[in-house]
Amino acid sequence: MRMTIFVSCTTAYMKMKRRSGFLKGILKYVTIVVVGIFIFYVIKSSFESEECDLTKIQYVNSEHAERAQKYAEQVLQAECHPSFAKKQMSRLFAEKYSEQMSPFLRKDVNSQTAAFKYELPFGFHKLSEKLKDVLGLLPEHDLPEDIQLKHCKRCVVVGNGGVLRGLELGYALNQFDVVIRLNNAPVQGYTDHVGNKTTIRMTYPEGAPLSEHEYYPNGLFVAVLFKSVDLSWIQAVVKNESLPLWMRWFFWKQVAEKIPVLPKQFRILNPAIIKETALDILQYPEPQPKFWGWDKNVPTIGVTAVVLATHLCDEVSLAGFGYDLSQPNMQLHYYDNLCMAAMYEQKMHNVTTETTFLQKLVKEGVVKDLSGGIFCDFC
Ligand SMILES: *[C@@H]1O[C@H](CO)[C@@H](O)[C@H](O)[C@H]1NC(C)=O
Ligand SMILES: *[C@@H]1O[C@H](CO)[C@@H](O)[C@H](O)[C@H]1NC(C)=O
Ligand SMILES: *[C@@H]1O[C@H](CO)[C@@H](O)[C@H](O)[C@H]1NC(C)=O
Repeated sequence: MRMTIFVSCTTAYMKMKRRSGFLKGILKYVTIVVVGIFIFYVIKSSFESEECDLTKIQYVNSEHAERAQKYAEQVLQAECHPSFAKKQMSRLFAEKYSEQMSPFLRKDVNSQTAAFKYELPFGFHKLSEKLKDVLGLLPEHDLPEDIQLKHCKRCVVVGNGGVLRGLELGYALNQFDVVIRLNNAPVQGYTDHVGNKTTIRMTYPEGAPLSEHEYYPNGLFVAVLFKSVDLSWIQAVVKNESLPLWMRWFFWKQVAEKIPVLPKQFRILNPAIIKETALDILQYPEPQPKFWGWDKNVPTIGVTAVVLATHLCDEVSLAGFGYDLSQPNMQLHYYDNLCMAAMYEQKMHNVTTETTFLQKLVKEGVVKDLSGGIFCDFC
């Protein structure tokens, strides 16, 4: 952009020399360009103010990192208890948690009336026809067979939190049977912190990594659908077709168009999981008809992934969770320079409610918090 502005200015200057008769018009042009540059920098600096001052970040001391690594090893070496997570969730939430739920969408969804009661992201209200087309493209609806057949599966949900920086949990995370990653959280360049195994990448269209190096030959791609155009998107990416132009307008940022995995690796998150998380467990208000925007009743993908993991796995651990809103200068993510303060501005999620829920799960021993950002068992 700066280059273009520079070139435009030079051209304007040469024209000015050649034909001074145009001087007035060109002055106007230059003024517009100068004002443009000014506005550009004002906008740019207002974005920069959200970036963390990296010199102020406190680095993790090595003792703390060692304790975290030791704790993770203990979790991995302990005996694994089949159905532990489900049983514990039922103990805490009774009939609000349904042990029988399929984590991923199956072809029989069309016979379940409950699935069509709510609109996305909680259900498929009025989308039954479109859904049939998409489900027809997906040959599989479970974990890959080699994992599914394990007697007891240990899963870890890797959140995107800055708390992962410096703990060097990568080696431990790689030893879980199932590693769930969220949205565009990168692995390349951060393997010491987050490992390099990805069993499941779970994201909405806008969050899907644009780099094809973030997809693995046998990893699952789990789509989380928020709006009806997301169904058209998943249909196009499974078929490996390019997106129609009109469709791009419905996304709030550039979406991945090619996802280099085979149709048998795609899954759609069962919206009943989001409904269960939001309306039953977190007890958010029922969705109201709205012309624009959301009620603040949509759970983050992180909390949704934790509930998904309890349905999918026998034992569940977390890493990279915990937004400490009292520390505005902390790093928000492990991979960029955003500050915690950026979290104040989001309008969709109730971070306080979610944190209370996760603390309850950790304190009650339902899940283990390997990085200690929610509740630290090893500090
Ligand atoms: C992860 O890293 C190890 C060691 O560098 C390598 O052997 C392994 O192939 C990598 N795994 C993946 C899925 O990239
Ligand atoms: C998807 O299409 C591209 C060409 O547009 C092709 O190079 C690629 O191999 C296809 N991928 C799959 C998984 O079929
Ligand atoms: C979050 O939910 C709690 C109740 O669960 C409510 O008291 C609080 O006002 C909500 N916060 C926001 C920012 O909506």
